[in-house]
Amino acid sequence: MKIFLDSSDIQEIKPLNKSNLIDGVTTNPSLLAKQSGNFKTILKAIASEVKGPISAEVTATKFDKMIIEANILRKIAKNIIIKIPLTDDGLLACNYLAKKKIKTNVTLCFSPSQAILAAKAGATYVSPFMGRLDDIGESGIELIRNIKTIYQNYNFKTQILAASIRSAEHVTEVAKIGADVVTLPPKIFKQLIKHELTDQGLEMFLSDWKKSGKQIS
Ligand code: E4P
Repeated sequence: MKIFLDSSDIQEIKPLNKSNLIDGVTTNPSLLAKQSGNFKTILKAIASEVKGPISAEVTATKFDKMIIEANILRKIAKNIIIKIPLTDDGLLACNYLAKKKIKTNVTLCFSPSQAILAAKAGATYVSPFMGRLDDIGESGIELIRNIKTIYQNYNFKTQILAASIRSAEHVTEVAKIGADVVTLPPKIFKQLIKHELTDQGLEMFLSDWKKSGKQIS
């Protein structure tokens, strides 16, 4: 399973990328809007820090303008891929870009039927939003499970990028289902590393070792 960071903050991305565990980044207009400075400069910095795919989202809602924006975004860096909302025009734009072999991430997916259309439109990735579904009393995990089953039934090539992740449990569950990618807010990435028994165990090992007076040398 690939791990992307869901962030537009280079200061937050840089230290986590040192782990060599980050395979890409997803940004969105809300995340980018929080950052001060020119969006192109921000995306360029992220794309040069993380070598994998960096999702940059169009903000136009009509096909023609989406394509114009996609071409602007693509020029920022070679590893920028185009994030497009799952709308009529978005699917048209996805299909157009797919025919030109331009990678896309179809975002704001909330149902298996939407995911079918994203795959048929040639999306490289589809982003089902788990947390936002959970928020309205539905199950993000079930959504990922259903999309996985459908994609396997038809051998669709679109990769499932589990998004809107709210907990380490979300990550475990989508990994069990076989999502291709999970995109994590930095806070959740850090949570994956932590376990209180790891901390307690280490403290005990080190204290026992110190008391013994032995040394590794
Ligand atoms: C994914 O690409 C989105 O940027 C993101 O996962 C949205 O998550 P949120 O529901 O926490 O805003």
